[in-house]
Amino acid sequence: MTATEVPHILSAEQFADDAFLEHLLDRSFYYEDLLTNGSDRSALATHAGSILLNVFYEPSTRTSFSFRTAAARLGMTIIGTENAGEFSSAAKGESLEDTARVLSGNRPDVIVVRHPDNFSVKTIAEHCSDVPVINAGDGKNEHPTQTLLDVFTIQKELGRRDNLRIVAGGDIAGGRTIKSLLKLLGRDSTNSFCLVAPEHCNADDVMQQNLAAMPAGIEYAYEMNPDLFKDADVVYWTRTQTERGSKALDGNFILRPSLLNLMPTNGIIMHPLPRLAELPIELDDDPRARYFQQAENGVPTRTALLDWVLSR
Ligand code: NCD
Repeated sequence: MTATEVPHILSAEQFADDAFLEHLLDRSFYYEDLLTNGSDRSALATHAGSILLNVFYEPSTRTSFSFRTAAARLGMTIIGTENAGEFSSAAKGESLEDTARVLSGNRPDVIVVRHPDNFSVKTIAEHCSDVPVINAGDGKNEHPTQTLLDVFTIQKELGRRDNLRIVAGGDIAGGRTIKSLLKLLGRDSTNSFCLVAPEHCNADDVMQQNLAAMPAGIEYAYEMNPDLFKDADVVYWTRTQTERGSKALDGNFILRPSLLNLMPTNGIIMHPLPRLAELPIELDDDPRARYFQQAENGVPTRTALLDWVLSR
């Protein structure tokens, strides 16, 4: 990215530059330490006077609130809506392009957008002239900042982001978090993935072709059995995205504690949340469970990302 380019964050692929990722992870550790142990949190407020426009067309607990919290810690002013489909002129039929022109015309310093349509955030970014736009989830496509916090979690818990065996399952076709994770960690040939889901929720032919071109090893499993988990460093589970037309997973794809008997004791269990039946609450007592810590990592990582975007 050149100095004059607007630093939109639209895809997890953008974190593939290792120096950039290293910088963001270092800064995330720095903010995590300040947020947890810092005696003077006002020292964080280095972006007072900057404005975050938080525009969510889809429900969100973690992503929206952690962006808001991160921005507040940085001293920013937050303007936004949690229901942009209803509380913006989208309800009157305004096009995304026009909404983008108008929102960027208010000259905020950064716009964070979640939208139900694939690639819609890219369309918004293209019409936001010189205001950076961050993709907080676009349909079934991508969720790059989730990947940033996922990789931060893996780095923090396992001390590396290579040589990983990742068993990812649930709704692969309908979700965006596993796709973004694959776009980043799939670039490393020392990583391997096993994608576990029934046929109707697993990677389709196009996705499989794209994944075949990635350096990481990728396998597919269409049934659950304890052997799948036996070398897993990371088990990454997801809910069925019924709001995007996915058919519910059957009970076989519930991550039952008994299925994880062979999983290494030093592996970790992740989930972007919210959870449904696929992640039973009995797992919360498993020492390998990290999904609530993972959610907490949204604040330091999004603080680091906002700081980077605003410092450009
Ligand atoms: C995910 C999302 O919105 O894509 N949630 C999140 O941001 N933590 C996953 C989901 O909704 O199932």
